[in-house]
Amino acid sequence: MLDGKTIVLGVTGGIAAYKAAEVVRSFVKAGANVQVVMTANARQFVSPLTLQTLSGQPVCTDLFDLGLESQIGHIQVARAAHLIMVIPATANIIAKMAAGIADDYLTTVLLAATAPIVVCPAMNVKMYENPVVQRNLETLRQRGCIIVEPEAGELACKEEGTGRLAELTTILETAHRALTPGSLAGRRVLVSAGPTWEAFDPVRYISNPSTGKMGYALATVAARRSAEVHLVSGPTYLHPPLGVHLHRIVTALQMEECITGLARDMDVIIMAAAVGDYRPAEASPHKVKKAEGDLWVQLLRNPDILAGLGQRRRDGQVLVGFAAETENLVENAMQKLTQKRLDFIVANNLVNPGSGFGCDTNEVKIIRKDGSMDELPRMPKERVAGEILNRIESLLAST
Ligand code: C5P
Repeated sequence: MLDGKTIVLGVTGGIAAYKAAEVVRSFVKAGANVQVVMTANARQFVSPLTLQTLSGQPVCTDLFDLGLESQIGHIQVARAAHLIMVIPATANIIAKMAAGIADDYLTTVLLAATAPIVVCPAMNVKMYENPVVQRNLETLRQRGCIIVEPEAGELACKEEGTGRLAELTTILETAHRALTPGSLAGRRVLVSAGPTWEAFDPVRYISNPSTGKMGYALATVAARRSAEVHLVSGPTYLHPPLGVHLHRIVTALQMEECITGLARDMDVIIMAAAVGDYRPAEASPHKVKKAEGDLWVQLLRNPDILAGLGQRRRDGQVLVGFAAETENLVENAMQKLTQKRLDFIVANNLVNPGSGFGCDTNEVKIIRKDGSMDELPRMPKERVAGEILNRIESLLAST
C-alpha cells in the first residue's frame, strides 16, 4: 500500500528508539522506501547498522560527513520525503522543532521539509506533562504536525503515567493516513464485518468461520481516505481500526437493528459480514444438559439485512454485497446482485487456497449491475478493499 512512497524516519535518543526498528521493517514490508536519519544520542540506544540493514539504505547522522553528504545531501533527503516521522520524539527534539533550531542532520531536514510531519513523543511522565513540553507540542500541532499521543502505562523509568510510545499499529496507521489522499472526505460509509453468533443456550451458539478481516480492511481503507466510517461488527478478535465508529453486535437481529438505524444517513453501505441465515427458535436461559439420544433444535430464518436495504435505499446511495460461494460462484453472485438490488457484488472464492474466511489475502470477482465483471488476482485484503473502494468512488462521482 506504500509503493513508491519515501518515508524519512527521524530517530532520536530515547529508550523507545529500539521500537523504530519494527517501524522500519513494517514500512519496508508495505513497499515504502525508508530513509533513516538518527541524532547522535539515538545512536547510543540503537545501532545504525540495525536500521541500515532493515531499511537497505545508509543511515544519515552527520551533517558534515563528506562522503554521504555528497551522495544524499540533507536538502535532497527533505525534498524526496512524502512523509517525515519522528519516532521516538524526545522532549529535546520537540523543543528544537518548536523553536526552529537546525543544528544537526535531523533538525535541518525537518526545517527544509515540505512533506507532512508525524511526531511520536515518548518520555518520562513528568517530562511529558511539563507545561513547556505541552506548549511546544501545541506549537507543532498549530503548525500542522500530526502528534501521535503517547500512551499511559508503566514507563521504562518504572514510573506509571502517560509517556509510553504509542502502539505500533497506531503509528503505522497514522502514517498510512497522512500518505493517503482524502478521496472519500465528506462521505459516510457503513461496513458490516465478521460473523454473527446465534445462541441456543448461554454457552453454545451457531456461527461460521468469518474473522472479520475483509470488513475491517474495508473500514480501515475507507477511513484512510477520510470517510466517516461506521463499522458494525460481529464478534472478532481484531483491533478496531483507528478513528472508526465501532458498533459491536452479536446476533443477526442486533445487526439488523443497528444497521437499520444508521442506513438512511449513509452514502455507501458495504455488507461484508457473514450474517447467520438461521437462529435457534428458542434460546435456553441455562446450559442445556446432555441426555441420552439426539437433540433437535428448530431454526428460524433470520431477516436478509441486505435485501431489506436494497428495497429501502435512497437515490445515490451505493449498496455493495458479498457472495461467498463454494460452487457456481458467478451464477450465484449474479442472482444475489439482482435479487438484493445492489450496485455490485464481490464474489468471494471460498475454495481456492489463500482466499475467503480467516485469510489475509482474498481472490474476488467484482460483478456490476450491467453484468460486467473484473476478476482480481489473489492479493492482500487491504488491496482488495482499495479496489472495491476505487469502484465505489467512481459510482459516487457519476451520480
Ligand atoms: O444470500 P447470501 O447470504 O449468500 O448473501 C450474502 C450477502 O448478503 C452478504 O453481503 C451478506 O452480508 C448479506 N446478508 C445479509 N443478511 C443475511 C444474510 C446475508 O445482509 N441474513
